[in-house]
Amino acid sequence: MVESEALWRAALYGPTGFFTRGEVPADHFRTAPLVGPELAEALLVLLDRVDFALGRPSRLDFVDVGAGGGELAGAVRSSASGALAARLVVTAVDVGPARSVPGVRWTSTLPDSVCGLLVGHEWLDAVPCPLVTGPSSHPWLDRWWPVGERERAEIGQPRDVAWADAVSRVARGAALAVDYGHVRADRVAGRYAAGTFAAYRGGRRVEPVFDGTCDLTAHVALDACAEAAGGEWVLVSQRDALAALGLVGAVSPGEPDWLGAAERASRIAELRAEGGLGSFGWLLHGVDVPVSSLLPPLPPWRP
Ligand SMILES: C[S@@+](CC[C@H](N)C(=O)[O-])C[C@H]1O[C@@H](n2cnc3c(N)ncnc32)[C@H](O)[C@@H]1O
Repeated sequence: MVESEALWRAALYGPTGFFTRGEVPADHFRTAPLVGPELAEALLVLLDRVDFALGRPSRLDFVDVGAGGGELAGAVRSSASGALAARLVVTAVDVGPARSVPGVRWTSTLPDSVCGLLVGHEWLDAVPCPLVTGPSSHPWLDRWWPVGERERAEIGQPRDVAWADAVSRVARGAALAVDYGHVRADRVAGRYAAGTFAAYRGGRRVEPVFDGTCDLTAHVALDACAEAAGGEWVLVSQRDALAALGLVGAVSPGEPDWLGAAERASRIAELRAEGGLGSFGWLLHGVDVPVSSLLPPLPPWRP
C-alpha cells in the first residue's frame, strides 16, 4: 500500500520522473487552461470579488499551484486589466522545471503567505497516494471510502494533507481546488468500485507503469480535502460555478463578430460540458472572506 505511493511518487517526481523532467499536460492530455482564455477570465471575476471583499489591498496575489506549462497563470496575467492588474502579483508554483511566462513569477515551493486567490487546477489528482486492492482497512478508508463492493481504491489522505497545507498559506482571501473527483455517497454506492487510478501518455489512456513514461493520476476525494482544510467552504460543479461568474457562452443574433463569438461559445460549452470539464468539482474556501460574497448558493457537486 505504502509501496505503491512511493512508486507513484518516484515515477512522477523522482530524479527522472515524468513531471521532474518537464513533461506538460499539453503533450499528453487536455486541461481547461488549454481550451482558451475563458477559464482565466472567470477566475479574474472571482479574483475581483475576493479583491473587493478584502477592501482592494495594495498587493493582490494570484497563485497557481501545480502550474504545469504555466498557461493558466499566463492567461490570468495577460487578461487582467485596470486597477486590479496594477496591484496583481501572479505566481506559478510547480516542482517541474521553471517556465518563462511574461509577468509571472515562477517558484517550486508554495508561498508562505497569500493575500488574494490560490488555485490548484488539476494539481491534487497528481499528488500520489496509496493504492489498495480488496477489503483493506485504514482510518481514511473507514471514514471516506468504506469497503462495500469495493475492489480497488485510493487512500486520499496525501491530497487532504496537501490541500490543507495550501489553504493554510492563505492569510486572507480564498483557495480554490478544481479537479475531477468523487464524493462519499457515490464511493459508498460502489460507483468507483474498480478505483480510479489511471495513466495517460501522448493523448491516450494507457496501462499504468511506474517507469516515468506516463502521467499517473486518480480522482480526488474533494469532500475529504474540504474537511481536512476546514473553515468555510463550498463544493460545486464547474458548470454551475462558471455560469455564476458570468461565463455562459450565448451568441446573440446580430453579433458583429459572429464567428469569433461562436468560437468563444464553443470553448465555453467545452468548459461547461456535463460529463466532461463541466463535471469537475470546484472546492472553494474563504479565509476572512465569506464564501457567499464570492459565489451565490449553488447545488452541491455530484459528479
Ligand atoms: C496534471 S498537471 C496540471 C497542470 C496545470 N495546472 C493544468 O491544469 O494544465 C499537475 C502539475 O502539478 C505539479 N505538482 C505536483 N505536486 C506539486 C507540488 N507539491 N508543488 C507544486 N507543483 C506540484 C506537477 O509537476 C504538474 O505540473
